[in-house]
Amino acid sequence: MKTRSSARGEPRRLGNVALLALMLCSVVALSLIRGRFAPIVTSAGDAIKSEEDDAAAVVNKAAAAVGINAGGDEAAAEAGAAGEERDKEDESAAAAVKDAGGASASAKPVCYETSRRSDTCEASGDVRVVGGAQTVYVDTLDREWKTKPYCRKHDSYALSHVKEWALKPLAAAEAAAAPRCTVNSSATAFVLSTGGFTGNPFHDYTDVLIPAFITAHPLRGEVQFLVSSYKSWWVSRYLPIFQQLSRHEVVDVDADAAGEVRCYPRVVVGPTFHRELGVDASKTPPPGFSTSDFRAMLRGAFGLERATAAPSGDRWDIRRRPRLLIVSRRPSRGRAFTNERAMADMASSLGFDVRVGDPEATSDTSKFARLVNSCDVMVGVHGAGLTSMVFLPAGAVVVQVVPYGRLEWLARSTFAEPAPGMEVHYLEYAVQLDETTLSEQYPRDHPVLADPMAIHKQGWNALKTTYLDKQNLHPHLGRLKNTFLKALSLLPHGRDD
Ligand SMILES: *[C@@H]1O[C@H](CO)[C@@H](O)[C@H](O)[C@H]1NC(C)=O
Repeated sequence: MKTRSSARGEPRRLGNVALLALMLCSVVALSLIRGRFAPIVTSAGDAIKSEEDDAAAVVNKAAAAVGINAGGDEAAAEAGAAGEERDKEDESAAAAVKDAGGASASAKPVCYETSRRSDTCEASGDVRVVGGAQTVYVDTLDREWKTKPYCRKHDSYALSHVKEWALKPLAAAEAAAAPRCTVNSSATAFVLSTGGFTGNPFHDYTDVLIPAFITAHPLRGEVQFLVSSYKSWWVSRYLPIFQQLSRHEVVDVDADAAGEVRCYPRVVVGPTFHRELGVDASKTPPPGFSTSDFRAMLRGAFGLERATAAPSGDRWDIRRRPRLLIVSRRPSRGRAFTNERAMADMASSLGFDVRVGDPEATSDTSKFARLVNSCDVMVGVHGAGLTSMVFLPAGAVVVQVVPYGRLEWLARSTFAEPAPGMEVHYLEYAVQLDETTLSEQYPRDHPVLADPMAIHKQGWNALKTTYLDKQNLHPHLGRLKNTFLKALSLLPHGRDD
């Protein structure tokens, strides 16, 4: 772990150097300096890669892991197998350097890699979108480009559910019969897909909503979402977010009738990924924005009142007690707390106002968002339900309970690492042998209990079935109490009395 974290510092610094260099290049003389810097970036990336290789096989499945909950077995297996990379800060810099080599020094290419997870295409001019054919004609293009507008670019399973889009020179169409505009708009057209792993809240946010925010936020509402592989229930669930980001109607673009042609001055195809559940402010255009801005937008979308986890100023308000939410799961899905009631009682005895909620059991996203936002501590077992941390007020505490089976790596990349960007405190509670139902299912010397890494080596499916689907938990109240007390000490409640 130590070597890994020290290794990870390196690419970041090199990445920054590379970015700076790149900026210099474009101002002065890109073609001259490029040759000197590109190899540095590349070899740094490679070095890190080899250093992290063994860890990577396991660690990189992290995102996929949460996807498993709703995504189904196949999705899980594939996502795991294809969980290709960590979010390396140097990636886009390296990609940009590489891409800059292809075209003339003046402009970036129409389609370029914005991270290891995402490609984005941008074009301005006479833009004509023929949604039914997933084609965008632009008069300023001199060649055709293709892309799948979903942020899992190396995940073949996810992308098998994402339609490919083409950007073509308008001239090519004019030779035949130029598609005539049936709708004109002055907004930027933004093509994205709700195929892939959507439907699982973790993927909804990390693959689609946050990447879409990164692209749309600077456009200040003058953007029209053209949604490919449109799922109406999905779009309705998150409609308040789209309405915050856009003054224009969300379009089920694949469903456009033949002959329908939507015209714009500019188009972006494909959202931009920065990092798991977060916005990297250093990659945003000036004056810059961050995960905090995303969360502020969410508060606007869902009517969330609390920006910070401060206690109510009214001394008679019951809200003076810190509120603790236990994220519940049905035991049939695995990773459920079997002693939820006792946990709640223990938390009450510490002075918490305790709530229990299952995000999967409610289809009312804004209602659950308001519940989470009203809380100061959120406790849940590793899983997509923890994605609700996006709604917590700043300064709140999230406690991730890590199931038995050496799953710390999974916990880390999915929810531990994004926590600081969300300005929430992060605590972890690792479940021991005497707190898992696995110890009732297997003899003590069975590899499942005695040698979890042997199960990891059997592949993602084995790991998922054993440790994620078939394990329920009953945390030891005495141990858990220490974690809850730690959470309490991190809150502003009581400090001002
Ligand atoms: C859209 O704009 C073009 C170019 O200005 C114009 O020729 C066309 O009639 C407009 N179409 C509609 C439906 O407004």
